[in-house]
Amino acid sequence: MKKLFILLLLALAVLPIYSAEEVPAVTNVFGRESVSLNGTWQYVIDQQEMGYYAGNSGKVDKWGFGRDAHPRTSSDLQEYDFDKSETMQIPSDWNTQTERLLFYEGTVWFRRRFNFSPRQGHRAVLYFGAVNYHCVVYMNGERLGEHEGGFTPFCFDVTDIAKKGENSVVLKVNNARRKDAIPTQIFDWWNYGGITRDVMLLNLPETYVQDYYVQLAKGSNKTIRCEVRLNEKKAGVSIVVEIPELKLHKILTTDAEGKAAATWKCKPTLWCPENPKLYAVTITKGEETINDEIGFRTIETRGKQILLNGEPIFLKGISMHDEAPFRQGRLRTRDEAHTLLGWAKDLGCNFVRLAHYPHNELTVRDAERMGVMVWSEIPVYWTIDWENDKTFRNAQRQLRDMIMRDRNRANIVIWSIANETPHGSARDSFLSRLAQEAHALDNTRLVSMAMEVLWADNFVNRLKDNMNEYVDVVSFNEYIGWYRDVNTARKMTWEIPYDKPVIVSEFGGGALYGRHGDANERWTEEFQERLYEENLAMLGKIDGLAGMSPWILKDFMSPRRPLAGTQDYFNRKGLLDERGNRKKAFYVLQRWYETR
Ligand code: GCU
Repeated sequence: MKKLFILLLLALAVLPIYSAEEVPAVTNVFGRESVSLNGTWQYVIDQQEMGYYAGNSGKVDKWGFGRDAHPRTSSDLQEYDFDKSETMQIPSDWNTQTERLLFYEGTVWFRRRFNFSPRQGHRAVLYFGAVNYHCVVYMNGERLGEHEGGFTPFCFDVTDIAKKGENSVVLKVNNARRKDAIPTQIFDWWNYGGITRDVMLLNLPETYVQDYYVQLAKGSNKTIRCEVRLNEKKAGVSIVVEIPELKLHKILTTDAEGKAAATWKCKPTLWCPENPKLYAVTITKGEETINDEIGFRTIETRGKQILLNGEPIFLKGISMHDEAPFRQGRLRTRDEAHTLLGWAKDLGCNFVRLAHYPHNELTVRDAERMGVMVWSEIPVYWTIDWENDKTFRNAQRQLRDMIMRDRNRANIVIWSIANETPHGSARDSFLSRLAQEAHALDNTRLVSMAMEVLWADNFVNRLKDNMNEYVDVVSFNEYIGWYRDVNTARKMTWEIPYDKPVIVSEFGGGALYGRHGDANERWTEEFQERLYEENLAMLGKIDGLAGMSPWILKDFMSPRRPLAGTQDYFNRKGLLDERGNRKKAFYVLQRWYETR
């Protein structure tokens, strides 16, 4: 009996935490037949969640706002009406849509009405690109399920609930910070809440291709590995994979698990920053056709070198937040992504660190087309609730969702599992398991995490962290010149006792664009300019330096940066300000990259 109980516990521990109606996210929604649910949504601010709990009972009210109901008689008491409520354009964060929600942390309800015509023998799958941070989803008054995690996609199969004619989707979205969440309660970016990325209703066949993988097999530049998986365990289903330019036309047949895999010899032109070659890939199953554009390249390490397609490469990077240029708020269009990535290219970058959470898929895909390599990261940031298993499973889920969404993107070269986490045995256990999971999910890319430096007094900085044995690339953040005296930079030496490449994942300092003065005066452009000169001179001496992603491309909003007249709730470490104006330090880094 005891053994059975333990087995049951183990089974529960590994099961993905999907709710009943949730289904695994579908790969490449942009290549599927879909109806967009972006646009005008009604919303109701519900600070005390009276639309969710029945009175003061603390019990969930099955007649809550999720019902999207209307009074049945003129005497009925109902204290909400989406039809009469204010509207918001979705996707968006609510903080930048209306002044009264700028700092709001709590629950907002959203409702969208849409017309639908079910197709016989098809499945209707509701897709959300991201909702920050936690949401409960309803359709036509039925609770579909809930999702936690603010930066990765999720889906609900609504085939049996969506009806011909008008339908109603309601979300209860809550962005309150929590100790046990991922990220936890403190983080240096704006807590943008809401339905922040695309919403679609996917129209898929009864049996559809749920996910697929087409990349070079590990260790080869002449072998493509392909994996496909159906949404159900069905054997004998034929799936055609074509890459016309490589004269590849292959038929796979699924096994009893609904999966199929194969490797094919071929010699693709390899993707690289100078020639970001993408191939048209078509996957066909019956009447279902999925089109994608996929690049092929190898990424590996050799001692202290990072090798792209077998050749050493220096990652000339910059860090970025997923925040729109000019208007702030969560980025939501390809044009906005293109603008930010264009600024990075102007800087001379071939690499961006998409901090500190998975960015919009539109950004990753545009970077791929532009020849920009990517470091993609989950928000295991600062002081996580390391001993909480639910927190670990949340991080595990976000890691899995990040990798499953983007593992076909050739430009992603590094998966990062953490940023600046304080040393400790519980943290080591949490992160070592995550690092192993990342390698298990994708053995073709490098794994890293941004460590914090344990400063020495005698200017000899040893990068000692137990986690460095679990990563392929040793990365660390240092802030000499900002949180430490800039005059120590030239005296600093760095001892990094690992035969692995080194990336400086952050350094930098603040400046208010247009403020000028002595280089010792904080917040002037001259202060930031000298800080970059001193750090680049110091870091350039590190043996095994294989890349860097200074902090940060542009000024971004943060509630931790209130200094009136200088920060005004912006972190000012950008090389450009929030309007795209270049600061003097921009040119210091640009010149340095020209020499690499
Ligand atoms: C940290 C952290 C960043 C933060 C930066 C800063 O290193 O990783 O998220 O914005 O420092 O202090 O500006």
